[in-house]
Amino acid sequence: MAPIVTEELPERAAPRVDSPVEQEETSEQEKPVEQEPAKREESAEKEKPIEQNKPKVRRTIDEEGGTTTATYPHYLPVWDHGEKYPPWEPFTHTEHGKDADPSFKDLLVEGSKLQHLTPTTGSEVTGVQLSKLSNAGKDQLALLVAQRKVVAFRDQDLADLPIQEALNFGVYFGRHHIHPTSGAPEGYPEIHLVYRNSNSGEFESFLANRNSSVSWHSDVTYEEQPPGTTFLIVLDTPEVGGDTAFVNHVEAYNRLSPAIKERLHGLTAVHSGFEQAESSRSRGGVVRREPVKHSHPLVRTHPATGEKALFVNGGFTRSIDGLKKEESEYLLKFLLDHIARGIDYQARVRWAPKTVVVWDNRVTSHSAIVDWVTGERRHLARITPQAERPYETPYVSEAK
Ligand code: SIN
Repeated sequence: MAPIVTEELPERAAPRVDSPVEQEETSEQEKPVEQEPAKREESAEKEKPIEQNKPKVRRTIDEEGGTTTATYPHYLPVWDHGEKYPPWEPFTHTEHGKDADPSFKDLLVEGSKLQHLTPTTGSEVTGVQLSKLSNAGKDQLALLVAQRKVVAFRDQDLADLPIQEALNFGVYFGRHHIHPTSGAPEGYPEIHLVYRNSNSGEFESFLANRNSSVSWHSDVTYEEQPPGTTFLIVLDTPEVGGDTAFVNHVEAYNRLSPAIKERLHGLTAVHSGFEQAESSRSRGGVVRREPVKHSHPLVRTHPATGEKALFVNGGFTRSIDGLKKEESEYLLKFLLDHIARGIDYQARVRWAPKTVVVWDNRVTSHSAIVDWVTGERRHLARITPQAERPYETPYVSEAK
C-alpha cells in the first residue's frame, strides 16, 4: 500500500555522528527534554564504529518494549532521520466550500443532528459518516466548518480504515502537508501525530517552566500556503482531560473598533518556522524540510464565507512588517492577548473514542489542554490539507 506521494521521495541524508535525541511529543508544542537519557544515548552512539552510524530511525513501539496497549499501534510515531523533503512548490488550491450548497442537504443527512457548542463558535454532529460523504457532502463540510470554525463529528470510522483511505479522503480538501519536525506512522509522512504516553510526572515537568499548558497556535502558518480545512482523528484519549480549545478569529476581528480594523488592513506579519526547527534540532529531533518564513496579511479574507479574520497566532507570528520593534511587539501582544482572552468566542471540544474534529485553520487558533495526571495515552492523527495563499480584501467602512 503506497502512501500518496505529494512530492519527491525523501533523499537519504548523510549519516550523523552526533546522537539525536528526539521529541517525545510530536505536536507543535514543546516538551521538556529529559537530560539524563539523552546523555546516555550520546555516549553510546559515540562508541559505535562510524560505518554503523546510519541515519537513525526511532520507533515508539520499540520504546514501549516492542509491545503496546495503543488502540491503533500502526499509528504510533516513527522518526526517520534520513527522511528529507525539498521546499514546497506553490500549488493551485480549489476551495470546495465556496460554491457548496448552504442547505447542507448532502452533509446533514436524515437522522443526523447538529448542535452548536456556543452561539458563534463550534458545533457537534452525530449521525454523519465523514468517510462516506459524496463530493457534494465534502463541499458542504468545508462550508460548514468555515462557518462554525470547528465541528466535532462523533462515531467516525476514519481511524479504523487503512491509513491510505483516510489520506484519500483528506486530499479532497487540499494538498497534504508534511510536517517538518513531526513523527509519523511508518510510510505515511503526511500524517502528523500528537502523542503523549506517560505516568512518570510528565504533567509536572511540562509545567516546570510555565504556569499553564495553554499554547494558542494555528498550524504551520509559516508556510506560503498554510492549511485550511484540517482534521484531527482521536486514537486514544484520557477518559477525562486532554480537551482541545479553539478560538474564532473572525469574531476576534469583529470585536475590534472600526478605527483599529481599518489600521490593520494593509499590514503583513512574519510567520516563522525557524524556531520550531531549531527547537527540534536542539533536542536531536528530526527536521524533514528546511524551515521557511512568510509574510501574510494581518487581516485575511476567507474564500468561502468572505469573512475577515485576524491572521496572527502565538505559535508562529513573530513581527509586523514595516513597524519598529516596540511598535510591532506592542501591537502583536495586544492582538494575541485579545485572541487568548476571548472566552466568549472560544469553544472547547471534549474528545471521545471515534471522534474526528474538523476546523478551519485559516480562521481559528487552538490549544491542547495538558491537564490529566493519570498517565493515560493521548494519541491523535492530524490530516492537514494546505489551502490558498492568505489574501486580504480592502477595508469597507462600517459607518452608517
Ligand atoms: C494540533 O496542534 O494540531 C493538535 C492539537 C491537540 O493536541 O489537541
